[in-house]
Amino acid sequence: MKREKIYPDSGVELSPFVLKNYDKVINTASFGLYKGFIHKAIRHMEIRPDDDILDLGCGTGRNAELMLAYLNEKGSVTGMDLSEIMGDQFNERFKDDKRATFIQSRIDEEFDLNKKFDKVFISFVIHGFPHEVRKTVIENARNHLKPGGAFIILDFGEFKLNEIPAFHRFVFKTIECKYAFDYVERDWKEILKTFGFDDFNEDFYFKKYVRLLKANIPGPKKPGN
Ligand SMILES: C[S@@+](CC[C@H](N)C(=O)[O-])C[C@H]1O[C@@H](n2cnc3c(N)ncnc32)[C@H](O)[C@@H]1O
Repeated sequence: MKREKIYPDSGVELSPFVLKNYDKVINTASFGLYKGFIHKAIRHMEIRPDDDILDLGCGTGRNAELMLAYLNEKGSVTGMDLSEIMGDQFNERFKDDKRATFIQSRIDEEFDLNKKFDKVFISFVIHGFPHEVRKTVIENARNHLKPGGAFIILDFGEFKLNEIPAFHRFVFKTIECKYAFDYVERDWKEILKTFGFDDFNEDFYFKKYVRLLKANIPGPKKPGN
């Protein structure tokens, strides 16, 4: 039976096989480079020990586990994902850690968790939506941040597809979904400014093809941030 997708061209709505084996698939597809990269990126989030973090499209909880290593008993990670298969892996991973919570939900529709977070994180999800839908995701993130909080996007960087080396373009266009093609060509700081984010920090990986973009909202920063 053909799997129904919410967005037909999305590459982040994964098949049951990939959902069940996601971490292994990523390790293999990245030739083992993913582990070192994701440790570095999570370190660059500058997590404070008592942060409350919302992870949109959290997957198996692999990123959440790295974040929890920076948190004390007051900190928390709430993962949201539409996939029950991801939820099962997340809940199994954190069955003995009360600081982690999974919520099975779409992130591309308006939601209200009745809680504000220090950081809202989204890793390799937002590029996979049509642009109008990305705006709802940003709105959801913005509405769930405490004053002084940060929306942190780990995803592709910004580049013009016709300006990168032909082989890189070929690989990108072969493995990535159509929505990613316009994602990389947009000015994300300008877009995020229209949602009230006023200050940005960036870290780059893999020759700037991947970026951790921290978009901050006005308000008192926690000590050390
Ligand atoms: C490419 S994976 C990234 C997983 C995780 N963020 C990571 O970096 O390991 C994309 C994730 O987004 C989830 N996803 C896709 N569309 C979604 C939606 N509309 N609402 C919530 N989660 C969604 C998928 O189930 C999957 O877990």
